[in-house]
Amino acid sequence: MTADGRCAVIVGSGAWHVLRGEGGFVLGPGAPRPTPFGSSRPIFEAHLPGGRPVLLLTRHGERGYDVGAWAVNYRANLWALKDLGADLVLATCACGGIDPALAVGTFVLPHDLIDKTTRRPRTFFEASGLGVLRHAEPFCPAARKALAEALAEAGLPHVDAGVCVVTDGPRLETPAEIRAFAAEGATVVGMTLAPEFALARELEMCYAPLAWVVNPAEGVRDRPYRPDVLFEGMATEAEQASADAAAARVPAVLAAAVDRLAPDRSCHCRSAMQRYRDDGRIGDDFRTWVERPAP
Ligand code: HPA
Repeated sequence: MTADGRCAVIVGSGAWHVLRGEGGFVLGPGAPRPTPFGSSRPIFEAHLPGGRPVLLLTRHGERGYDVGAWAVNYRANLWALKDLGADLVLATCACGGIDPALAVGTFVLPHDLIDKTTRRPRTFFEASGLGVLRHAEPFCPAARKALAEALAEAGLPHVDAGVCVVTDGPRLETPAEIRAFAAEGATVVGMTLAPEFALARELEMCYAPLAWVVNPAEGVRDRPYRPDVLFEGMATEAEQASADAAAARVPAVLAAAVDRLAPDRSCHCRSAMQRYRDDGRIGDDFRTWVERPAP
């Protein structure tokens, strides 16, 4: 439970069931929110299993994959969540497994990230010198710990470490790209955690992903091409079932993690911009930190 802030959940493509109210998630009314960076996705008042209220937003749309990872307005989404009082964001992320030891259906809590995206606005501070922030721990360690404890308590297969490489899409990766990412230390690949993680830090929100493997990354396993199924057959039917089973556990894991998060958690996320405040370059209200783009 957070003292002064609200908890937010960003739902990715692997967790549509959450939006259908399955798994104990109760969805209230939702509306897009205007921000200096355009309109956010609709933000829903929702309740996690057990009743805890959260703000819920879907990256890709409420009906299906209408907004690709490369077209998400990450700035508007993060701004709107902050504007509604969020100080913690748990982000779901279906990913491809680069490390061959990662079976489909395994949850992964990345501790680090490689950003390969090139075409996404990645800062709120386009026209100022703000935002030169340390990223020794790109994800909130307190939120990661809570997620790890929730996964362990639920007895779910998980790995409490990982490096997520984030690609631009829309196309999936080539085998040579995946080999190169593996050589760079990546263990999973996805398309959405960047620039989301960095934008959350610029707004002093704790941010941690709950990822799970939905397919072996390209070339990791020999998979025949199937034109009629998701990702043209990168996952077998049995693996698809494992991925779905993992996704079904997501609401309960999120609920258990949020319950474990102390309001006085000792991470640095909520003072990420402190030196700018100390210098008098920014005030207390984040809404004054950016120049408003001309209408
Ligand atoms: N690559 C990129 N993004 C993904 C993948 C993948 O293999 N699987 C799920 N999201």
